[in-house]
Amino acid sequence: SDPRLRAMLRLAPVIPVYTPESVDEAVAVAQALLDGGLPVIEVTLRTPVALEAIAAMVQAVPDAVVGAGTVLEPAQLAAVKAAGGRFAVSPGATDALYFASREQDLPLLPGVASGSDIMRGLEHGADTFKFFPAAAAGGTALLSAWNGPFADVRFCPTGGISAANARDYLTQPNVLCVGGSWLTPRNLLQAGDYAAIRALAAQAAVLGS
Ligand code: 3PG
Repeated sequence: SDPRLRAMLRLAPVIPVYTPESVDEAVAVAQALLDGGLPVIEVTLRTPVALEAIAAMVQAVPDAVVGAGTVLEPAQLAAVKAAGGRFAVSPGATDALYFASREQDLPLLPGVASGSDIMRGLEHGADTFKFFPAAAAGGTALLSAWNGPFADVRFCPTGGISAANARDYLTQPNVLCVGGSWLTPRNLLQAGDYAAIRALAAQAAVLGS
């Protein structure tokens, strides 16, 4: 297990999952989220500009802790590290991805949705996972069931989480934080309404208390 991972996941109750459309937008989003009280940001590698966006966010907003999401292939880890990303998040995990994360020395938050997924991770020394897709795969009932056999494991549930149900997840004893895209809705991004994004972040930042 990599102690850097849990340390980052403990910095805030919510990790915004953000898909960037431009570098300028990404920098403004990082600043707005940080100002609202959410320093840890997952930038999905779903748009061509994503790696450039990560590099710009790291440069322009040094107090933000920026990582990459939607990592599917081992080769992407080197690219994330080169861009200055501090962690990587994957929707599932393979042996190759676990090996590459160790080789690159880049903390990986691997996605799990089953006991077998967790056991594969444990074999690789992982003890902290993204539970994805959390709502669809079993929600808080599944987290509660996992706390029996996997009592030392901790999760960041993501997928189907919003301001309305985040607290249900955050009060689970095996949850460190939750992730979600509700903080950076496309309509606010398109309108350039970063004050509204900052306000959403401020509401989310107090969810854990
Ligand atoms: C992810 O990549 O983790 C998900 O797309 C985020 O899920 P959400 O959109 O339901 O928050």
